[in-house]
Amino acid sequence: MPLISKRPSRNTRKLPPLPLLVSLLMSAPACAGTVDGAQALARERGCLACHGMLRKQVGPGFAQIAERYRNDAAAPSRLAGKIQGGSVGTWGRVIMPRQSRVTDEEAKALAGWVLSQPQP
Ligand code: HEC
Repeated sequence: MPLISKRPSRNTRKLPPLPLLVSLLMSAPACAGTVDGAQALARERGCLACHGMLRKQVGPGFAQIAERYRNDAAAPSRLAGKIQGGSVGTWGRVIMPRQSRVTDEEAKALAGWVLSQPQP
């Protein structure tokens, strides 16, 4: 399985309008009571050792990431892949190593949670 999909998303136009998408992103975890869960998971998986909630530390702040991809309908799945597979070159030269302890489910939850962060 390619970790970072290079395929252009053909579904972009079929997705609901952005405000709806954003509210879905924000409300779905809240209903399931997983917002705190995702934050706890981020702490447990060591994400917060490199990422601040707002500003850049080793890696970009989660609010900065959310801001950058606010209009990007393909971001949730792409970021889930990067959370597991690692990343370099998108924000600078510092490498985010592969997070091998993160499962598929966790990567999706973490990506949704990161993207739901309010503007800094
Ligand atoms: C060792 C430090 C480190 C750890 C641990 C780490 N990250 Fe990162 N993260 C980075 C760096 C550095 C970048 C910027 C990479 C780049 O420029 O492509 C990044 C980028 C990201 C991005 C944005 C990728 C993009 O394409 O814009 C997301 C989302 C992310 N990290 C989430 C997480 C999550 C969730 C975890 C925990 C499972 C985590 N990171 C753990 C350092 C880290």
